[in-house]
Amino acid sequence: MDARLQRRVQRYGWDRAVDDYEQGWRAQLEPAQSLMLDMAAPRMGDRVLDVACGTGLVSFRAAALVGRGGKVVGTDISEGMIEVARRIATEQGIPHASFEHCDAEALPFADATFDAALCGLGLMYVPDPVEALREMQRTLKPGGRAAAAVWGARQGCGWAEIFPITDARVASEVCPLFFHLGTKDMLARAFLSAGFVDVRHRRISTVLHYADADEALAAVFRGGPVALAYSRFDTATRQAVHAEYLDSIAAYRVGDGYRIPGEFVIAAARAPFSEQA
Ligand SMILES: C[S@@+](CC[C@H](N)C(=O)[O-])C[C@H]1O[C@@H](n2cnc3c(N)ncnc32)[C@H](O)[C@@H]1O
Repeated sequence: MDARLQRRVQRYGWDRAVDDYEQGWRAQLEPAQSLMLDMAAPRMGDRVLDVACGTGLVSFRAAALVGRGGKVVGTDISEGMIEVARRIATEQGIPHASFEHCDAEALPFADATFDAALCGLGLMYVPDPVEALREMQRTLKPGGRAAAAVWGARQGCGWAEIFPITDARVASEVCPLFFHLGTKDMLARAFLSAGFVDVRHRRISTVLHYADADEALAAVFRGGPVALAYSRFDTATRQAVHAEYLDSIAAYRVGDGYRIPGEFVIAAARAPFSEQA
């Protein structure tokens, strides 16, 4: 897929997710977000960048860790997500968290601005994840800490068939690199390619819980990487992809609901001091 199309698919696919995102994903993503925050360890007074911040689930946790003497800047390619994050910051009185609409590969910040940089479950969607990591590195102070979380390998994620099922009905792959970064040590290698040092990574297993088939379908189709393609399907195609997807997760059915296995990979690293670069 060409990079511009991929960005459009993401931007408008995630715009569609804003209303349901926190309810659908807050609990499911929490283990990866927590480990990523532990590995980057934002401290009181730090300036923190949160790339692909969505509604700010990670940004606001980072804001609590850095306190009012620190600062958190969240960025995302979806204007809808940025609007929601700004609204939450205003409603909850969190003035030291601010949000900017921008692409992860072109951050509008000066070199050496931040003490720590985070990217939770966002890098898989970026056309060139190494370029996004390079941007994180550029905007970090020397020695600054970075951490990113991605979904794991295809065979570790029970809902993985959602991509071929959707791709079969559109002209191109909707998310070509999705499982690439979660395979073996690819995320750690991407950090190294971007110029980071002291790279380490961990893989953790998880289970996605859905109360019934409607909830499992809404989670994958309503917002996110396949949502734009799905929004253009006619009724018959929607019914066909629903049936195929439910068939692909049938092994994980428990009563009316589903317990779908998944895995995350989380890597952390440091921006080099000039003598390490
Ligand atoms: C699964 S959400 C993760 C949101 C948040 N980090 C969290 O952990 O809840 C993925 C986010 O990546 C954003 N995204 C996708 N491609 C992007 C890009 N090229 N630049 C910036 N953000 C992007 C989407 O808009 C979406 O908000």
